[in-house]
Parts: sequence; structure tokens; C-alpha cells
Amino acid sequence: MEVAPAANEPLIMALPKGRILGEALPLLARAGLVPEPAFADEDARQLRFATNIAHLTLIRVRSFDVATFVAFGAAQLGIAGNDVLMEFNYAELYAPLDLGIGRCRLAVAEPEAMVKDDDPSRWSHVRVATKYPEITRRHFAARGVQAECVKLNGALELAPSLGLCGRIVDLVSSGATLRANGLVEVERIAEVSSRLVVNRTALKTRPAEIAGWIERLRAAVDGA
Ligand code: PRP
Repeated sequence: MEVAPAANEPLIMALPKGRILGEALPLLARAGLVPEPAFADEDARQLRFATNIAHLTLIRVRSFDVATFVAFGAAQLGIAGNDVLMEFNYAELYAPLDLGIGRCRLAVAEPEAMVKDDDPSRWSHVRVATKYPEITRRHFAARGVQAECVKLNGALELAPSLGLCGRIVDLVSSGATLRANGLVEVERIAEVSSRLVVNRTALKTRPAEIAGWIERLRAAVDGA
């Protein structure tokens, strides 16, 4: 499945669009990596960006797609949350470093009105809207509950009030989105933060370059 480039080709680092970027860019700068100015323009249609390092190119993709680009060797390095890594479980991905950014949690939530009469220990079947069907099924199966998952890609918080499902499994950071939609967190599945991810084959074929970036980023995290 590898499409890893020859050693004289640029290293590609995949970064997730959206709110993680605001925390990732200062960390990358401390590690000595600065993208061309166009990278900061989220409205730009450009998806591939040069950096101050001649042999390192950045690509900007959806957070779930970072894992896919790196797992298939189309990018050698990336930044992905452990939520994404848990969902895909790609054997080709190695996550050597917790970057300590993008901290949030993956949680089960349900409408406020449902909570007072609800006893999670009595659930046998739940219908859940989520971006994370694999994690959700595994989480509930571990305690003998069958989860019927409805896959959505965003605006999950609308699903209970519109009758699509009783519950959701989603990322919660400040809790403001849940509150604004009359939902309450009832179970925590995992603590989430962003990790440096590396393609295992690329680590073997380009060890000095890739290990160099792991070490520079480790020093940037430790010095934060
Ligand atoms: C995430 C998540 C929730 C929200 C939670 O979405 O899916 O909707 O953030 O954050 P809060 O607890 O601080 O309100 P995000 O804004 O990252 O966009 P997305 O739906 O496109 O993933």
C-alpha cells in the first residue's frame, strides 16, 4: 500500500484544518518550521504549501484525512487526534509523541429531559449519531450494549431534537455546543489530544529526517 517517495523528494507533513491549526502553528514554529504566509489564509483554495525548510511541504486536509494520507504513505508526517487514531486503527501509523494540543474529550451526550429518568447501567440497545461509529460500537460492546450508529459528519447536536436518535457521541471541549442544544454529557469515552503521527515505512526508509522531526517537536513540546 506504500507510495513513499524516494529520499530526495520532499517530506510531506499533513495538518488538520480548523481549530487545531491555531495551536499547531506556534508549536511548529518552536520546532523551526514556518509555512509560507498563504498557509494562514483558511479561505485560500491552495492545499499544498512550501515552508522555510526546502525539503518539507505542508498539506492542509480534514482531520480524519490526516490519518489516511499518512497511513498510505502519501504524507510521511502528520498531526492527528487520538480520536481519529482510535477510529481508524491503521497499523501503518506510528504515534510517537503527544503534542499536548487540541485537548478535549470524546463523550456520550443525551437531551437534558432524558437524563433524569435514564440509567445507563440498564441500556441494552442505543441509537447514536456520531462521526465515530467504530469507537462507539466498541465502547458500548465492551459492556454488552448494542449500539446502532448513524454516521454524521457534523452538526450532530441537532440529531436528538429532530428525532434521528436518542444520543450522540462527539468531541466536547468547552461544553458550549452541548449546552446550546439542550444536551448533557452522560459518559466519557476518552481524553483526546493531538499526536505527531508518522508512516512506519517512511520511518524505516528515511530514518534520519523523520527522527529529526520527532526530536525537534519533542523539544518544542518539552519547552512549551
Ligand atoms: C467540535 C465538536 C463539537 C464542538 C465541541 O466541532 O464536533 O461540535 O467542537 O466544542 P465545545 O464543547 O467547545 O462547544 P468543531 O467546531 O471542531 O467542528 P466540526 O463539527 O466541523 O468538527
